[in-house]
Amino acid sequence: MEEYEKAIRERLSKDRMRHVLAVRDCAAELAALHGVEQRDAAVAGLLHDYARDIPADQMLSMARARGLVSCSVEEKVPLLLHGPLGAQLIKEDLGIDNPQVMEAVALHTLGRPAMGRLAQLIYIADLIAPGRDFPSVERLRKIARDDLDRALLECFASTIGYCLQKFKLIHPQTIDAWNYYVVRK
Ligand SMILES: [Fe+2]
Repeated sequence: MEEYEKAIRERLSKDRMRHVLAVRDCAAELAALHGVEQRDAAVAGLLHDYARDIPADQMLSMARARGLVSCSVEEKVPLLLHGPLGAQLIKEDLGIDNPQVMEAVALHTLGRPAMGRLAQLIYIADLIAPGRDFPSVERLRKIARDDLDRALLECFASTIGYCLQKFKLIHPQTIDAWNYYVVRK
């Protein structure tokens, strides 16, 4: 774990590093509460933003080279690729091949229908970890302790609502995830 922390510290700004450490701890706590493997949660939390500080043009070309670009929204907002690209890079750079951890890193920004438990948990932890500050964050923190499925839906609502309010593009994968989990509720 220390080796991973060193590797990501070299890639991220101070503020971003503070964020990933907060997500690591939040994810480990949620994992303990919900019966998810705690070490996997901590590793995925720590590494979820591994590719986050790569400049947009480089992000796009690195993702293209790995066949990770699947949608025109990603070409317009290359930042959205930092999840899938990060999952690939932790494999290439750090030798991490745990499929749950890779899935969690890959999906932490966009989500997807039928996410694994760890991926759900990291998606939520990224949004509610200490340092995040938006009107409903305390409510979301409480829901996340009680009910992970409910929290996931609330987190999608929060993310999509934010995009609508700010006139930002919404990735179709996030809409698919929303529809999937609403039907399942
Ligand atoms: Fe991220």
